[in-house]
Amino acid sequence: MSQLFTPLQLGPLELTNRIVVSPMCQYSADDGVPGDWHMHHLMQLGCSGAGLVMVEATAVERRGRITHGCLGLYSDSNEAALGRVMSAVRRIAGQTRFGIQLAHAGRKASANRPWVDEGRPLAPGEDPWPTVGPSSSPYVEGWPIPEALDKDGMQRIIAAFSSAAARAARIGFEVVEVHAAHGYLLHEFLSPFANMRTDSYGGDFNKRMRFPLEVVGAVRAALPAGIVLGVRITGTDWLEGGLTLDDAVVFANELRSLGVGYACVSSGGITRSVKVPVGPGYQVPLAERVKKESGIAVRAVGMILTPEQAEDIVSSGKADMVCMARAFLDDPRWVWHAAEKLGASIQYPPQYERAQRSVWRGADVIRPGKK
Ligand SMILES: Cc1cc2nc3c(=O)[nH]c(=O)nc-3n(C[C@H](O)[C@H](O)[C@H](O)COP(=O)(O)O)c2cc1C
Repeated sequence: MSQLFTPLQLGPLELTNRIVVSPMCQYSADDGVPGDWHMHHLMQLGCSGAGLVMVEATAVERRGRITHGCLGLYSDSNEAALGRVMSAVRRIAGQTRFGIQLAHAGRKASANRPWVDEGRPLAPGEDPWPTVGPSSSPYVEGWPIPEALDKDGMQRIIAAFSSAAARAARIGFEVVEVHAAHGYLLHEFLSPFANMRTDSYGGDFNKRMRFPLEVVGAVRAALPAGIVLGVRITGTDWLEGGLTLDDAVVFANELRSLGVGYACVSSGGITRSVKVPVGPGYQVPLAERVKKESGIAVRAVGMILTPEQAEDIVSSGKADMVCMARAFLDDPRWVWHAAEKLGASIQYPPQYERAQRSVWRGADVIRPGKK
């Protein structure tokens, strides 16, 4: 029997299977407000059959957006628009649950969408904005020098995370995830490659963790107990002298004691000069060790591609959930096809039932040799 297709109890929330759609920025919002593209994107994923769909990195304040197109939850109009999209999506979504990732881009903010000159920083005529970070060191040479946050600035950001979490709860998200990876603000505090502070928020790992833990604590306090809180963490910076897997285990232990329900273990992103050994399942060992040594539920991510690979990750106990991004852009019906391969039965939207292999001989032609 497929373990990938068994339900998962995540605190108060039951997911129908262990498959999660990874958060993916769409760069298609206007001052944080979602539009038609989001409706299409989330409707499509809402019919995917995944146990959980994570809505993209959503900025907690305007200057925390990566680009002018990033989604936000920093204003009433952001909340109203996302609320409208999610009500429509939930009406068509069957058993799929929805979460949202809350983020602050820190020193990687004020950039172009990735399809414009590979996401270079906004130029003076492109309405750039001042960025912030733990220290005044830029992401890479040529990027804006961030303003090093002082106590007031840090308090403002903690309040922004709390307020965005309360907005997410009002919209009805069942999972809220704090983004502490990929070189954005919270990862910047955690990594010695961005945090050069000499106050109580910089120095050894205990001090570098302090601000991210304050943010996570404030988000947990802003959420009702029925909402699961997760954190996307960095398993390694892949750099000599950077954040290590040992640090990730320590961080995960702290998160668990704050009431965090799962860690999604990713890696990299703090600078550009890193050689990441990308390949199928390359981050799974990071998730496995975080799970073993902290006891927190983990979500594995990164080049998880085939149903057999996903099944193996879950059934061997390396992770509690798998999370995929590009595989869902390529094939929004990934879950249907995985169920077919692994012999699991899933609920199709009744309108689409006639595409099931058991009733449609065309499937044998398109995907010959599968069950
Ligand atoms: C279009 C796109 C947008 C992404 N946006 C986010 C994001 O909003 N938040 C995040 O944590 N990761 C983001 N990522 C990273 C993915 O969530 C995922 O970690 C990464 O793509 C590796 O998984 P994959 O090999 O299944 O694609 C994005 C990736 C893609 C392809």
